[in-house]
Amino acid sequence: MVFSSIDDVQALLGQQSYIADRALATVAFLALRLNRPIFLEGEPGTGKTEIAKAIATALGRRLIRLQCYEGLDAASAVYEWNFAAQMIAIRAAEATGDKADLRAELFGPDYLIERPLLQAMRPQPGGAPVLLIDEIDRTDEPFEAFLLEALSDFQVTIPELGTIRAAEPPIVILTSNRTREVHDALKRRCLYHWVDYPNFARELEILAARAPEASERLSREIVAFVQRLRMEDLFKKPGVAETIDWAKCLLALDVLELSPEVISDTLGAILKYQDDIARLQGLEAKKILDEARQSLEPA
Ligand SMILES: Nc1ncnc2c1ncn2[C@@H]1O[C@H](COP(=O)(O)OP(=O)(O)OP(=O)(O)O)[C@@H](O)[C@H]1O
Ligand SMILES: [Mg+2]
Repeated sequence: MVFSSIDDVQALLGQQSYIADRALATVAFLALRLNRPIFLEGEPGTGKTEIAKAIATALGRRLIRLQCYEGLDAASAVYEWNFAAQMIAIRAAEATGDKADLRAELFGPDYLIERPLLQAMRPQPGGAPVLLIDEIDRTDEPFEAFLLEALSDFQVTIPELGTIRAAEPPIVILTSNRTREVHDALKRRCLYHWVDYPNFARELEILAARAPEASERLSREIVAFVQRLRMEDLFKKPGVAETIDWAKCLLALDVLELSPEVISDTLGAILKYQDDIARLQGLEAKKILDEARQSLEPA
């Protein structure tokens, strides 16, 4: 058994400095118990990719990552033939005149480059690997349909070699930033979870795990400010990743507490669009800081 209870999931992920709320830990627990893929959708920088790494490390499994992009096709997700090596072998065979069995050899395991989906079907030390299919919304529908098939029977077919089936199915985690809707048929196979921005208490916990050098006081101010900032109508709201980055920047500058000046000097760590930065400079930053501090008052 991989995880014995939901509490166990939270504790083991916590040891990897990953703070999962109860709902997310429940999904992870059930997915592992029922052998179902996890489908995580949510805002950028909220820990979707990171949880796959944390689960792999917590279980001592290998992490295999398929980074999706526009134009990704089944062939490059599964395998490729090592064309350059095949050419060299052909030249060598031509030179020596030894061409017997050349074709079979050229399309054999020695010339096969295994891509993530094929790697994930192979037995790995420590047990079935964790297969992270990251940012699936960047691919197109034919690739989704292909994935659906690969994930339903955990096998892939290479015409020259035959079908390769996973002896033990990998632990599959799919993520999406929801730049488009992923097909229902694929979602139906998975346990779905929307990863939201954490609340104040959880974000403080994440910051304590990821930037433990920050004082309690500075951390509380940072989190209160970022939480308040997310209520603004911004082009791109800061994720947890930005909160952590910002804390590290402030520490590097020996900042002990926030001030409008410090905020405007370091805005580039939390906001990545000039329009958002321009809005926050000057009076607006002070107003948001004052409101964030008020929310901290009865600490
Ligand atoms: N719950 C969490 N516990 C600990 N660290 C977290 C958590 N959520 C986010 N982080 C931190 O934020 C960083 C960014 O997270 P991650 O890359 O997983 O986000 P993402 O949701 O995959 O974003 P994107 O959609 O942009 O790919 C991680 O490196 C990690 O340090
Ligand atoms: Mg990610």
